[in-house]
Amino acid sequence: MTNNPEPLRVAVLASGTGSLLQAILNAQDSSYVVVGVFADKPCEAIDRARRHIPAPQTVQVVDFSLFGQARRPQWNSLLADSVAASSPDVVVSAGFMRILGEEFLDRFGGRTINTHPALLPKFPGAHAVRDALAAGAKVTGTTVHYVDAGVDTGPVIEQREVPVHPGDDESMLHERIKTVEREMIVDVLRGFRSLGTRARPGG
Ligand code: GRF
Repeated sequence: MTNNPEPLRVAVLASGTGSLLQAILNAQDSSYVVVGVFADKPCEAIDRARRHIPAPQTVQVVDFSLFGQARRPQWNSLLADSVAASSPDVVVSAGFMRILGEEFLDRFGGRTINTHPALLPKFPGAHAVRDALAAGAKVTGTTVHYVDAGVDTGPVIEQREVPVHPGDDESMLHERIKTVEREMIVDVLRGFRSLGTRARPGG
């Protein structure tokens, strides 16, 4: 472990309620600092970021609806420009419900990580918790992985298991998974810091 005096600079992408973002914000210490929060639409995550004390330097909606599918590359480029302005070491996709395109990953690939509510490669995609229940899984969990051009296909950084209880519905199980996700993403970020600047993702 190196003695790196600078905290890891973290940008967070979110789309929804932002409970993972809140956990990341609350756990900031000498190991990492949240320098920017970005969303693809107005959402609770943005409100949480603005309410947080101290608020991240940049809290910004890069509104996908102003671009649409036909102009997805332009939206990816604008998102990349916006994130780059906060000079992050690492980008965390924490409940961000858009697929990041090559215009974004050309600049942040290798240092963009995602939290996913299943034990990848099982149950990729937007309905991982529902799919695990439908498959009758007895154990599911959560994965932090690097983002690549596929859907939830990048190299795994860490996984933790979560049992499926009899009678679980999608929201009960997802909430239990998110409790574990919140701890795991903070542990992963603190782990990157302990690697030192040169060994960080993309470093
Ligand atoms: C998490 O389960 C994450 O893995 C998934 O979306 C959820 C985000 O929850 N991609 P929240 O909006 O942070 O509460």
